[in-house]
Amino acid sequence: MEKKELNAVERVLTKGEFFRYGGTETVKFEEEWAALIGVKSAVAVTSGTAALITCLKAMGIGPGDSVLVPGYTFIATALAVTAVGAIPIYTEVDETLTICPIDMKHKIEKHTACIIPVHMQGMPCNMRAIRKVAKAKNILILEDCCQALGGSYGKKRLGSIGDMGAYSFNQYKIVTGGEGGACVTSKKIYGERAYMAHDGSCSVWPETGKMSEAFFCGGNFRFNEINAAITREQIKRLDRILAALQQTRATFLTGINLPTGFKFINSNDEKGNCGVCFLIQAENVDDAKRLEAIMGKHLTVQRPINSGRHVYSAWGVINGKVGGHNPAWDCFRHPKNRKIKTNYRRPLRQTDDYLKRTVLCNTPYGWNKRNTGKIIEIINRQIAKV
Ligand SMILES: Cc1ncc(COP(=O)(O)O)c(C=O)c1O
Repeated sequence: MEKKELNAVERVLTKGEFFRYGGTETVKFEEEWAALIGVKSAVAVTSGTAALITCLKAMGIGPGDSVLVPGYTFIATALAVTAVGAIPIYTEVDETLTICPIDMKHKIEKHTACIIPVHMQGMPCNMRAIRKVAKAKNILILEDCCQALGGSYGKKRLGSIGDMGAYSFNQYKIVTGGEGGACVTSKKIYGERAYMAHDGSCSVWPETGKMSEAFFCGGNFRFNEINAAITREQIKRLDRILAALQQTRATFLTGINLPTGFKFINSNDEKGNCGVCFLIQAENVDDAKRLEAIMGKHLTVQRPINSGRHVYSAWGVINGKVGGHNPAWDCFRHPKNRKIKTNYRRPLRQTDDYLKRTVLCNTPYGWNKRNTGKIIEIINRQIAKV
C-alpha cells in the first residue's frame, strides 16, 4: 500500500463515517469509475460476484431464462446465473480463449435471455460479432470485466459496450481495495434497478428514494467507505499500470523467436488488451508442455486447462446440479426451467483443445527493458531446442 492509500484510509477514520450514506467516498468512487469507463452510472458493490448478481437482477434475469457463459472463466460467472434462478449454458471459447461467437450462435435457443462475454486475463472478447448476434436475437449482454479492469475494445472501455458491465477489485486484480466490485450501465432503468438490487433498504434513504422504476426486494451488497477510499486511489494509477504492462508484453512479443509449430495468439483488440499476459499456441499438447516447462523457469506460466475452477469441467456444483442452499431454491428443479436443456455432460471439445495447447505467460509487472531483454535472450536460446 502506498502513502496515498494510507492517507485515504486516515481521511475516513478521522471522519469516523464508514457507511456509504453518511460518507462521500463510495459516491465519489462510483462517479469516478463511471467516468473512467465512459458510462452514465456505476454502483459499487462488495465483490465481482456481487456485481454479476446485481447486474443480472437489474436486467430481470431469473427462472425461465438461460444465459450463455464461456467454458473458460472463473466459476463465479456461472454461479451468479444460478444465484438468480436462471440456467447457465456452457459455450466454447475460440483460440483467443474468449467466448466463440460461432458457437454462441449455435447455443442460442428460445429461452436465451442474456450472454456473458468474459474478457479473460485482460483479453477483450470479439464484441463486434457478439453484439451482432445478440442484436439479431434480442439478447442482453453483460460483460464480465472482472479480469480486465480498464481494457478496451474499439476504443471503448470494456464494460461500456454491452448492456451492463461487472468488475472485481479483489486482491488479485491490477487495482484493488482487497475486496470490491462495481456494476456499470448507460441505461437508466438498469442503473436504478442495480441500485435497488444492491441495497434493498435504499428506499429509506432520502437521497436515493427518488427512483422512477418500481421497487423490488433487494439485498445488501453495499460497499464501505474505507474500501472505496483505497480503491479510489488505486484506480488513479490504472492507466499507468496498463501502459507498463502493455509495453512489457509488446517487448516479449517482438523479442521471443518462436520455433516452427508455435504461434502467438493475438487478442480481439491488441490495443485494448490489458497486457497482463501473452498466449503462445502449440500445434500439439506435448509441444505445449515442453514450452511450458521452459517458459516456467523465467515467468509465471500455465496451460489454462490446469487452472482449476476457471475451467467448466471443474465446476462440480453446477455439473452435478446440486442446487441452492434450500431444496426449494434450486434453479435446476424450478418448474420454469424444466424445458431448458443443459449441456454439462458434453465436453466442450474446442475449448479443451485450446486450453491444453496454449501456454499462458503472465507479463511481469515492474520489469524494465534491460531485465526483460536479458530474460528474452535466455528464453530464445532455450526454446530454439524445443
Ligand atoms: C472472470 C471472473 N468473474 C468473476 C469473478 C468474481 O469476482 P470476486 O472474486 O470479486 O467475487 C472473478 C474473480 O476473480 C473472475 O475472475
